[in-house]
Amino acid sequence: MSTDKKIYQPNPTFAKDAVIPSMDDYWKLQNRAIEDYEGFWQAFADEKIDWLSAYNKVLDESEAPFYKWFTEGRLNVSNQCIDRHLADKAHKTAILFEGDRGEVEYISYAQLSLHVNKMANLLRHEFNVTKGDRVVLYMPMIPEAAYAMLACARIGAIHSIVFGGFSAEALKDRIEDAEAKIVITADGAYRKGKPYMLKQVVDDALDQGGDSIEAVLVVKRNNEPTKWVEGRDHNYNELIVSQHAECPFEAMESEDPLFLLYTSGSTGKPKGVQHSTAGYILWAQMTMEWVFDVRDDDIFWCTADIGWITGHTYIIYGPLAAGTTTVMFEGVPTYPDAGRAWKMVQDHKITQFYTAPTAIRVLHKMGEHEPKKYDLSSLKVLGTVGEPIDPPAWEWYYETVGNSHCAIVDTWWQTETGGHMISPLPGATPIKPACATFALPGIIAEIIDPDGTPKEVGETGLLCITKPWPAMIRNIWGDPERYVKAYFGDAVKDGKPVYFSGDGAVLDEDGYITITGRVDDVINVSGHRMGTAEIEAAVKRDDTVAEVAVVGRPHDIKGESIFIYIVLKEGHINLDIKNHINELLATEIGNIAKADHIIEVPGLPKTRSGKIMRRILRSVAKHEEITQDISTLEDPSIVEQIITKAREA
Ligand code: WTA
Repeated sequence: MSTDKKIYQPNPTFAKDAVIPSMDDYWKLQNRAIEDYEGFWQAFADEKIDWLSAYNKVLDESEAPFYKWFTEGRLNVSNQCIDRHLADKAHKTAILFEGDRGEVEYISYAQLSLHVNKMANLLRHEFNVTKGDRVVLYMPMIPEAAYAMLACARIGAIHSIVFGGFSAEALKDRIEDAEAKIVITADGAYRKGKPYMLKQVVDDALDQGGDSIEAVLVVKRNNEPTKWVEGRDHNYNELIVSQHAECPFEAMESEDPLFLLYTSGSTGKPKGVQHSTAGYILWAQMTMEWVFDVRDDDIFWCTADIGWITGHTYIIYGPLAAGTTTVMFEGVPTYPDAGRAWKMVQDHKITQFYTAPTAIRVLHKMGEHEPKKYDLSSLKVLGTVGEPIDPPAWEWYYETVGNSHCAIVDTWWQTETGGHMISPLPGATPIKPACATFALPGIIAEIIDPDGTPKEVGETGLLCITKPWPAMIRNIWGDPERYVKAYFGDAVKDGKPVYFSGDGAVLDEDGYITITGRVDDVINVSGHRMGTAEIEAAVKRDDTVAEVAVVGRPHDIKGESIFIYIVLKEGHINLDIKNHINELLATEIGNIAKADHIIEVPGLPKTRSGKIMRRILRSVAKHEEITQDISTLEDPSIVEQIITKAREA
């Protein structure tokens, strides 16, 4: 495998001063972790975290898989990200904000501190938000979203950010699952030069339910008119003015939850992934330093939305814990043209640029030569995340954007892992394109069979993390049984359940790990994780639908697109099924769940025991030859009929 792949050595000038400057240094660290796992983590926890009081145990495995790290230690994440930097970085830019329409705002660590303290006081005193309360954020990419996250961390409230592309129904479900006390939102924001609205969606969500919500705090961003519910809705911009400038932070325990983030799994209901305080922030900071190699005068830009884990860890928590300048961008990288991102790199002298393969493919397609029009010489490290990157996109990114001198870190990780897990190190790892390479020091990643047998070189297996790590998911909010089953139910090693990621992976003869993609019923559309069961559950809410099956289909730009098979109930016809179902999906989940293909079929391929043969449906969606045995199907003739329908689609 992959012996023919070209290897890209680290840029020697960069490597000279890198935090991890060679593979020898990588192995020293990794071997230290293997020899003395707890000692390894203890050393970093002591070095990196500003402890308010000491922890007594590095790793407590007594209630595995409910692992606990740095037990009984006390710290505060907003202290870790703000206060402790004030002595020497008060005037350094913490957040460099660029609006959709091009306006730029520099928010220093001192100013960030002031905003966060005031917002924390507002939450604490006006809305009685206290430690452990859940706060839902439904926010655009504006600095107030960062203030809200850090204000929650300061007072010990647990934030749950819902991506602004989710519908009212999806927002309501997440509010209800978390039993949140307050929603923080904005009237809206700007995208592609025009205002768009968010508050409306919150109103609709709360019309449908979400009874635990006592107040809605609204940031005025675009000042478009919104409905106003007296007594429930509150104007942030007015209330913030009179707040006290100092808000003492809570001394949180290491294992207190820092935030929830809902993500799709292989059953219908999204899971509230629960992260901890100490382990999460430690790893967010360490990976910033190792994988992005951030330096004091660097300007770091991660293009994700704060509604996803990438935005949490690499726009807010990681960069700020590391004392970096982090760029926050309200707009889209293709507006006003496909040179926007590159213009921003030039204008702000961005040193690390981190984005998704989908965005790279779009920027490549819409403006292959755009990068050449700008001075991108400030760039040192380029990153990708969210889905496998294809070699042509990788090469364009490397050669045209990075001018063949930047390392590309293809970072594999998940909402559940909190931070990067498998990734090249920019000053050390000889890179093979489109390959996540090696597990980071401290992370024990293995490719195995369900019984723990390691896979041979070249054989795809289950990608498992066989030792707990500090930033790992702690629980699924309110559903510990599902936590155990979803993550520790598929593979064992030495008789002990181990964390299974849901991804497949393969090793080559040099020990490099390549991710092959999800092996469960989760599809990845433009880097957004979507559970097929969640989409199916939404489609089934239509009265005319008897049966539905959702599969992913490879897509040039999006990586995968959604392909839906529908069987209508007897006596029903629907001539406009595609628009009809897509409208339903937009309402139930959000625009990100809209399907490219929706076809009505007379039946689904099922075994005699009634199990849907998804493999056949996947092959049909891809227009692949059906190689599997269909003679065991209840009605083999259905396959021919489905193929014909799919060809017409
Ligand atoms: C996929 C995003 C290949 C993978 C941080 C994983 C990747 C899912 C990569 C998690 C990568 C993420 N190469 N696939 N570098 N990074 N994935 O929770 O399938 O939104 O399980 O977290 O994205 O998606 P999530």
